[in-house]
Amino acid sequence: MQIDKNFIEKLAGSKSVVFFTGAGISAESGIPTFRGRDGIWNKIKPEELASFDAFLKNPELVWEWYNHRKKIIHQSQPNPAHIAIAEAENIFPEVAVISQNIDNLHQRAGSKIVYELHGNIERNYCIKCKTFYNEELDFSKGIPKCRCGGLIRPDVVWFGEYLPEDQFDASENAVKNCDVFFIVGTSAVVYPAASLIFTAKQNGAYLVEINIEETEISNFADLSFFGPSGRILPDLMKEVKASLM
Ligand code: OAD
Repeated sequence: MQIDKNFIEKLAGSKSVVFFTGAGISAESGIPTFRGRDGIWNKIKPEELASFDAFLKNPELVWEWYNHRKKIIHQSQPNPAHIAIAEAENIFPEVAVISQNIDNLHQRAGSKIVYELHGNIERNYCIKCKTFYNEELDFSKGIPKCRCGGLIRPDVVWFGEYLPEDQFDASENAVKNCDVFFIVGTSAVVYPAASLIFTAKQNGAYLVEINIEETEISNFADLSFFGPSGRILPDLMKEVKASLM
């Protein structure tokens, strides 16, 4: 891959780097994305499975879908893109990952600072008393219930729900202070997550997009790499490391 030397120098001299990631970064791990040709939302209506109303109406169906997704995630491994981001912590003084993904793959790859805007499929909580149940749940007697009697749900953000405030605030802080802001494998159409791209730009960050195709924000990025993130990110990190030796 041909990479502009000036960009590598700029990146190598950066103090703080943020990676804003979406479903596309996990596509090479075998986890389906939401939009595009084989996207989940082409086959399923989000409001039928990914909303609180849907859960109250048919918790069995919603749990069946999340357990199915969890199975796929558990069979997957972090790919070279997740690993390159985790290794970026050995290159730059400050690295933060802000992910819209619930698959836990950044953590499994070794990233230490990961802000989860849409939750994490490995956690669950009671809809009544908010007690967390992060162990493997028992579905043998139906939908698992809390000691208080409330239904247990996955700790993910559904349509119509607020993002976890602490995760969004911490993300905003990281974004406001970063030199380079990578936008990796996201269609950048879901808000408020995508608003962080504009916050980054307003605060002077250099915006680098990595995607297999053009997106809504491609014209807004300072630099775009079109190709799979599992190839581009390792290549970029290799070049930066080489330039620092
Ligand atoms: P999308 O499915 O909307 O977008 C995935 C993006 O990844 C697309 O732009 C693809 O072109 C790109 N892509 C696919 N494979 C890639 C690869 N190997 N390398 C690089 N890019 C690749 O997923 P998100 O943007 O994450 O929200 O969607 C945002 C939110 O919408 C999700 O978090 C989810 C969904 O509804 C909730 O569940 C709340």
